[in-house]
Amino acid sequence: MAVLITGGAGYIGSHTCVELLNAGEEIVVLDNFCNASPVCCERVRALAGADFPVERCDIRDEKGLERVFSSYSIGSVIHFAGLKAVGESVRKPLEYYDNNIGGTVTLLRVMRKYGVKTIVFSSSATVYGSENEAPFREDMPTGSTTNPYGTTKAFIEQILKDLSVAEPDWHISLLRYFNPIGAHESGAIGEAPNGIPNNLMPYVAQVAVGKREKLKVFGNDYDTPDGTGVRDYIHVVDLAKGHLAALSRAEKTEGCEIFNLGTGRGVSVLELVRAFEAASGVKIPYEIAPRRAGDIAVCYADVEKARRVLGWTAQKDVTDACRDTWRWQKNNPNGFEP
Ligand code: NAD
Ligand code: WQD
Repeated sequence: MAVLITGGAGYIGSHTCVELLNAGEEIVVLDNFCNASPVCCERVRALAGADFPVERCDIRDEKGLERVFSSYSIGSVIHFAGLKAVGESVRKPLEYYDNNIGGTVTLLRVMRKYGVKTIVFSSSATVYGSENEAPFREDMPTGSTTNPYGTTKAFIEQILKDLSVAEPDWHISLLRYFNPIGAHESGAIGEAPNGIPNNLMPYVAQVAVGKREKLKVFGNDYDTPDGTGVRDYIHVVDLAKGHLAALSRAEKTEGCEIFNLGTGRGVSVLELVRAFEAASGVKIPYEIAPRRAGDIAVCYADVEKARRVLGWTAQKDVTDACRDTWRWQKNNPNGFEP
């Protein structure tokens, strides 16, 4: 039985494909390539030394999904496909609700039709919103989101919880990622944002490679040790491995379970900049800019549940992630474009 990977050509999906293939799993990638390149799938094949089908399909396309489910023997789904730019979601809420929520509902309907009831879903620490205090624990209240993107994640979590109440034979795992960074240590795959990066690490990497002039540090007056925002940066390969643990747990567990995937450690913006400078040997010019709307001061995970129940903990640190990001960025200054 194959694992269907929606959004498998994207940043986290592609790293998860490598780990699944290395573990001997059969996979089918489904992606509409709205934020990805088919070259990434070629690189995954080369890295893992294994072949797999890639289906160009939109998760909102019910007929297309049915064609995929009837063409392969699919046993479970890891569902990464979605739009993820916070700022864009504020400008285009309908597109985000349609793509992320509409797409997920369509996918779930088709899964049920084909008797596939195991799903691992990419949620986000953003569901903890602004009203909780770090470290964030899975049983804290969620939903005080500050943008439509975050709200799509909170809604989809609710839809999946409701589904597991109504139909207890589903096996559902909600994974709340903290801040994924880094790249495969080969430097062959990594994060390739379109246009100006929204997130800290790809922005720093583009400054290092000379594509951007300097970093703007959004606020140095937070109540944190150096005044800059603190986040839980998790290496994407650790995150990918967390999916294998979650899938194996979901396969044998009915109902809906929630897990944080983070390191449990908070790192400030300036600490990350210094770690990148040390790993790359390149100076990162920066200036202090006003706070960014919607940002919180401190966000990091309580990782106890993932350790206890999944037997998974992050192994890598920000130094590893900076070194791997730099290798990817240096070798591929234009991402997957020539
Ligand atoms: P990504 O954009 O690299 O990957 C998402 C993939 O989904 C892309 O390949 C895109 O082409 C595809 N896609 C989007 N809409 C689709 C649709 N309607 N039909 C088919 N394919 C579609 O993003 P990523 O960073 O790899 O994120 C993967 C998932 O993890 C997303 O759901 C994202 O919201 C979630 N997440 C990401 C982060 C992060 O910081 N990167 C943090 C928390 C959660
Ligand atoms: C990290 C820190 C910024 C850029 C976002 C989403 C979240 C999740 C992960 C998907 C903050 C600071 C950033 C820059 C800066 N994604 N920063 N200058 O905001 O923690 O989380 O990505 O689910 O939902 O909101 O990540 O990388 O944007 O910011 O100073 O140019 O870096 O203020 O303190 P964030 P980020």
